[in-house]
Amino acid sequence: MATAQQIRLTVNGVQHEALVDVRTTLVDFLRGELCLTGTHVGCEHGVCGACTVLLNGSAVRSCLMLAVQADGADLMTVEGLAKADGGLHPIQEAFAEEHGLQCGFCTPGFLMSVYELLRQNANPSDEEIKDVLGGQLCRCTGYQSIMRSVRLAARKLREAGAQNQAQTASA
Ligand code: FES
Ligand code: FES
Repeated sequence: MATAQQIRLTVNGVQHEALVDVRTTLVDFLRGELCLTGTHVGCEHGVCGACTVLLNGSAVRSCLMLAVQADGADLMTVEGLAKADGGLHPIQEAFAEEHGLQCGFCTPGFLMSVYELLRQNANPSDEEIKDVLGGQLCRCTGYQSIMRSVRLAARKLREAGAQNQAQTASA
């Protein structure tokens, strides 16, 4: 029985091909093989959300998936959030400005979940934000600063969207 399998996948817009042990988890593959160590490993059983990445646009726990299950997928990790010039994404800016992190261990998972939320819902209610944050564990912040960060991130993204629309209309 084969213990290794060839996979191809795209991560943050870059194509990768690798021979992986069929028992390797997706998070171990991202961190160990691709050196994308921004995705963190906490509980390793789907509870804490530190390992959250986007798989074909949907947030998944990468500790609960095998790398071979991501064959052919389009993935985005926290490293994919920053702008090409290295500048912070508006969600990252908002977390920095509103102190949405202390030790930062949980932060990559929060950022990816919030990214998914705000792509689907530009103006979420507090209840909708709480619903998403409830799936991510933070031991440091008490969540109030994270709530403020998400509200600010939503506002920044709405303003950036309105600015882009105005520029397109005047072009
Ligand atoms: S490490 Fe994946 S959910 Fe905790
Ligand atoms: S900032 Fe430390 S666990 Fe969230």
